[in-house]
Amino acid sequence: MSLRLAVLGSGSGSNCQSIFNAIDDGRLDAEVAIVLSDHEDAFILERARKRGVRAEVMDCGGYKNKFPLEVQEAVARQLRELKVDLVCLAGFMRLVKEPLLRAFPNRILNIHPALLPQFPGVEAWTQALQAGAKQTGCTVHYVDAGMDSGEIIMQAYVPVLPGDTPQSLHARIQVQEHILYPAAILSAVSRL
Ligand code: GRF
Repeated sequence: MSLRLAVLGSGSGSNCQSIFNAIDDGRLDAEVAIVLSDHEDAFILERARKRGVRAEVMDCGGYKNKFPLEVQEAVARQLRELKVDLVCLAGFMRLVKEPLLRAFPNRILNIHPALLPQFPGVEAWTQALQAGAKQTGCTVHYVDAGMDSGEIIMQAYVPVLPGDTPQSLHARIQVQEHILYPAAILSAVSRL
């Protein structure tokens, strides 16, 4: 039986698309059971609906960054009911805590646009530029209660080029992200 995934994202969902693409071209034996977003106008929802994948909005009660515990509990219940095996955070901008971590121990992954433990947090590509890094990259890691602090599964390197802007660097990191995430999901599956 193929793997059942849930994808949580707040924005464009290009990483979610890379998971769809990997399923379609046979790199990943999986199906996406549901895509959830904390923003009703996030393009990630559009991508899911276009594919016929269930896509729903989580009502975070008007909080900008907080992921209310009761919402996490409801999401955990929903994902268990849907028999989800792995939860993939893909540009999801809220911190996951106990209710979800407990329901999916070692089964929640995140992709981060830097070589962790360097540059955790927001706009990691801008942080890399400001630090004068010669190279950066992206990381897929298990999610724990911290900020981008869980065990690393896989990483890919991206050089910082002369004249890079935050936009050009992030775009090059994203090319690598789209290769890395499906590969890291496979690696995580082999450890289940
Ligand atoms: C990616 O750069 C990811 O590493 C970071 O947020 C961005 C999401 O992009 N966590 P997308 O929504 O997948 O296009």
